[in-house]
Amino acid sequence: MIKLAHNTIDNKDYKILIDFLKKKRYLNQSKVTKKFEKKFSKTIGSKYSTFVNSGSSANLLIAQTLLEGNFLKNKTIIVPSVSWSTSVSPFLQLGYKVILCDCDNKNLGLNILHLESLCKKYNPGAIIIVNVLGHANDLTKILKMKKKYKFQLLEDNCESLGSKIDTKSLGSYGLASSHSFYFGHHISTIEGGMVSSSDKKFYNIASAIRAHGWSRDMQQPFKKKLEKKFKVDEFKSFFTFYYSGFNIRSTDLNATLGVEQLKKLNKISKIRHLNFYKYKSNLKDFWCQKSKLSLISSFGYATFVKNRLEVFKYLKSKKIQTRPLICGNMGQQPFLKKRLIKNNDLQNSNKVDKFGIYLPNHANLRFKDIDYVTKIFKEVAIPFNF
Ligand SMILES: Cc1ncc(COP(=O)(O)O)c(C=O)c1O
Repeated sequence: MIKLAHNTIDNKDYKILIDFLKKKRYLNQSKVTKKFEKKFSKTIGSKYSTFVNSGSSANLLIAQTLLEGNFLKNKTIIVPSVSWSTSVSPFLQLGYKVILCDCDNKNLGLNILHLESLCKKYNPGAIIIVNVLGHANDLTKILKMKKKYKFQLLEDNCESLGSKIDTKSLGSYGLASSHSFYFGHHISTIEGGMVSSSDKKFYNIASAIRAHGWSRDMQQPFKKKLEKKFKVDEFKSFFTFYYSGFNIRSTDLNATLGVEQLKKLNKISKIRHLNFYKYKSNLKDFWCQKSKLSLISSFGYATFVKNRLEVFKYLKSKKIQTRPLICGNMGQQPFLKKRLIKNNDLQNSNKVDKFGIYLPNHANLRFKDIDYVTKIFKEVAIPFNF
């Protein structure tokens, strides 16, 4: 079976976990989490990181921190229609006005023309971009628009850890970014996620909201300032809640895995990059995703076919997994369809919904596997010109 994803946790990782348990260390979020966060920040070129229990929780934490920290001029957010359920849901749950933006027909990120028209119409407080399957959005244009319309830029980088524009990593462009360490992602902590930011205030508030809204994980000056403002003495300090929080912590056991997994990230990204180009050269007659990256930490090979169900069934019969292109147009998903303002401008996303498919790419996939997948694919697939 050629699967869409593979397990990045190997025997060496299991041994490290067992050794960690044998030492009977403190298992809850503690020193190892701090170490993982520090190493992760260095890896993506951000000042601070906050380890949480999933990529979805990372998005939730971003959404709540923006509100509790008064980072927004208003509660309108533009979200990509080619994204993930929990790239959108936290904003709905917290009462934001959510507007979907169509996708670009090259990089599958935000469509710049549509984005500009939405900015003019709605004057959004924030925009969240999703770096789709290892690829970048048109960041040069989006950063220009950020200056013009003065919104906060956020990045859902759950599918693109390791990708770089020159030497700058995706996930280091906005006020905050989210990452996922779920099975099948570039690295795994079983379940897990991270929020990264270079903004000190954002980081401190996020670290409080991650755990109940108390100040225990905040930096000393922030903590002291709050204690002074609210006249909190030493006795009450541990049990005073300054923000409306969650409990979305992970543990030091998961962080132990994270520290080990991070050591492999560069190698994993390079293999995924080479696999992407191998697919591209094998599938010259088919659409290929394009963005300005020096390293494509590809998550899967996206393309378009006229006869998707037939392709899916034929490849399944040959033991090759395929799937929709992330999950099609989010605006067509039942939970969102019933809530959103009618939007007829999502033409590219509707094509993604109808004709998009993605093929396996992961660090255990060899060139001979890709030769096999593309040979079988070409036996049945009819190219769709996106
Ligand atoms: C773009 C995007 N955002 C968020 C998530 C959620 O991550 P998690 O599964 O860790 O909650 C995913 C999951 O694959 C994703 O693709």
